[in-house]
Amino acid sequence: MQLISQFNHRTAFGYVLSIACVIGIGLQPAFGQNNGVTNIFRPLSQPAQEIKETSALVLIICAVIFIIVAGLLLYSLVRFRHRAGDEATEPPQVYGSNQIELAWTVLPILIVFVLILVTSRTIADIQNRKAPRGAVQATVVGHQWWWEIRYPELGIVTANELHVPASTGDKRQPAFLNLQSADVAHSFWVPQLAGKTDVIPNKENRMWIEPTIPGTYLGNCAEYCGTQHARMLIRVVVHTPDDFDRWVKEQQQPALIAADAAEGRKAFMTNSCVNCHTIRGTAAEGKFGPDLTHLMSRETLASGAAPNTTEKLRLWVRDPQTIKLGCLMPNMQMTDREVDLIVAYLQTLK
Ligand code: CUA
Repeated sequence: MQLISQFNHRTAFGYVLSIACVIGIGLQPAFGQNNGVTNIFRPLSQPAQEIKETSALVLIICAVIFIIVAGLLLYSLVRFRHRAGDEATEPPQVYGSNQIELAWTVLPILIVFVLILVTSRTIADIQNRKAPRGAVQATVVGHQWWWEIRYPELGIVTANELHVPASTGDKRQPAFLNLQSADVAHSFWVPQLAGKTDVIPNKENRMWIEPTIPGTYLGNCAEYCGTQHARMLIRVVVHTPDDFDRWVKEQQQPALIAADAAEGRKAFMTNSCVNCHTIRGTAAEGKFGPDLTHLMSRETLASGAAPNTTEKLRLWVRDPQTIKLGCLMPNMQMTDREVDLIVAYLQTLK
């Protein structure tokens, strides 16, 4: 009673202001400009669209409950606050009203039942989706801290940037992903395309996406997986169907053997680079690190930790730990000349 009696207009104002702030912050990403920042309220693919619709319904139901409860609470606090001259005795107490008991038991049960039905329908819809003929199949393997991406049917291996075709009205082309982990638990999440799916060792999870608008969609690992969890970014590049076919043809080619990079190639092949990296068509067949066959076709290095520029590539080859402290690629203590040669060679891998 002491607490309630201290309630005054200033605290009421503060209370209303904080609620308004929370609602304002919530509405901003839902309806405001997103400036390229990824956003669960702006889905651009199934199943993200369906998930958004379900969560909008859940949010609306919860918001109505919140407004009713908070409104009644606020009303009671203001209307029945302690006033000067009030008697110091307790007001009359009400016990055991059957109507009230029934109302607050039956209504919530009905609401929860509606929420269960809607949610399970969405979950079933998404989980039971079968891959139609022509669907792109990719295996995504989470590593500390990068993504290995394989297209077994197409014979392509790449990293960190998943390429898929856009689904069009006459050619539905969803992409089905098999998610695996090489070490610890990760989580694959590209908010505008689909919900999060955990990536767990010794278990294969599946998910699918069906974007319709070409472009680059950003995502990230959504399960803490060690020091560089925050720099385990994902890019999903959605192409028009023709563009995708072109990308597939390019990626299927073995590595280019450029004559002017022979010295750099030799430096790469004689260093320990080959123990971890594969460059198809050469002696480099390492499996621990990303496949570098078409390194220059990627926009970023180190799973989005740096843009794929000459300067950053040089820094990365010289000492990866300056870009991604704790990553498994060590500083190989190479001379400036070796670094230059290897960078020049890597830049021929288009
Ligand atoms: Cu991988 Cu967090």
